[in-house]
Amino acid sequence: MKWRTYPDDVLPLWVAEMDVPLAEPIVRAVTDALALGDTGYPAGTGYAEALAAFADKRWGWDGLAVERTAIVPDVMLGVVEMLKLVTGPGDPVVVNSPVYPPFYQFVEHMDRQVVEAPLGADLRIDLDTLDETFRRAVTGTRRAAFLLCSPHNPTGTVHTAEELSAVAALADRHGVRVVADEIHAPLTAEGVEFVPYLSVPGGEDGLSLMSASKAWNLAGLKAALAIAGPAAAADLARLPEEVSHGPSHLGVIAHTAALRDGTAWLDALLTGLDDNRRLLANLLAEHLPTITYRPGEATYLAWLDCHALDEDPADVFLRRGRVALNSGLPFGTGGAGHVRLNLATSPELIAEGVRRMAAALG
Ligand SMILES: Cc1ncc(COP(=O)(O)O)c(C=O)c1O
Repeated sequence: MKWRTYPDDVLPLWVAEMDVPLAEPIVRAVTDALALGDTGYPAGTGYAEALAAFADKRWGWDGLAVERTAIVPDVMLGVVEMLKLVTGPGDPVVVNSPVYPPFYQFVEHMDRQVVEAPLGADLRIDLDTLDETFRRAVTGTRRAAFLLCSPHNPTGTVHTAEELSAVAALADRHGVRVVADEIHAPLTAEGVEFVPYLSVPGGEDGLSLMSASKAWNLAGLKAALAIAGPAAAADLARLPEEVSHGPSHLGVIAHTAALRDGTAWLDALLTGLDDNRRLLANLLAEHLPTITYRPGEATYLAWLDCHALDEDPADVFLRRGRVALNSGLPFGTGGAGHVRLNLATSPELIAEGVRRMAAALG
């Protein structure tokens, strides 16, 4: 999608796909399956076992119980299924804007109402705003859910254990159920601690979605996992069996290989992403000093504040610079005046992107 949507003279630095060679263990696992003719339906718990071992080793979390997981077609359809388990039609779903635009689209499509609790000026969860938003959301007899993005897309914010515990306490106080989209978790920078929501005190009745899709560039090989905390096991048990028919067997094979054998590749990727974040910050400071960039601690997405421009900056950069970025507008409140840039590409293309952005304003 990234390279095929715009004409050839446009440099695409938008949708969350990476310009990387696929990790060798994934190539091997999928080609072995093809050579065997192993292209039927998925079976077994290998994906969940690989994720549980990865979570233990990477994040020191040994609480991912395979019996409290379910395979789902992808993270967003998993989010929809989890929200169906804990809310009904018309119920509110709280999100921290600005946030990944499909949070709005999928939630509205399933007849829930999106309610925004904007991030603070520091791009972190504003607990007072969340408290007040939860209070309003549950007014009447409504069931409400909080769709947490952890780490946060587009800002790359990694929520701390303290913040997540405070979120759990607020959710508990107001009777709001938490569904955590943790797809970007393996993309947490080295030296920064990712804390799984289900591991924090009070997070036991949470539901989480994880997958290898973002960190190993597997969006075209669909499969994800829904994970229930101990106090949400009964909810996950109500997930209809037919949901497990959605993920592809080759997707499950690819994601399992990534989590089981793709750690060295991931570590090399994270080193490159760190370098790219620094490069982008330096180039912007030099050539586009009116743009504010606060490098995140996870993801390969850069959230750029371009308020100095009068028009939608993504439109200006595309028309005048021939560089495609995501407009901040669909990210909800807080998105205007911003663009999201995907830095999971070569240093040369990042430099070319900044050159084009500067030319657009020059
Ligand atoms: C926060 C977040 N959730 C979900 C997705 C999409 O995941 P999937 O393709 O598994 O639905 C993305 C993709 O960029 C994302 O950033």
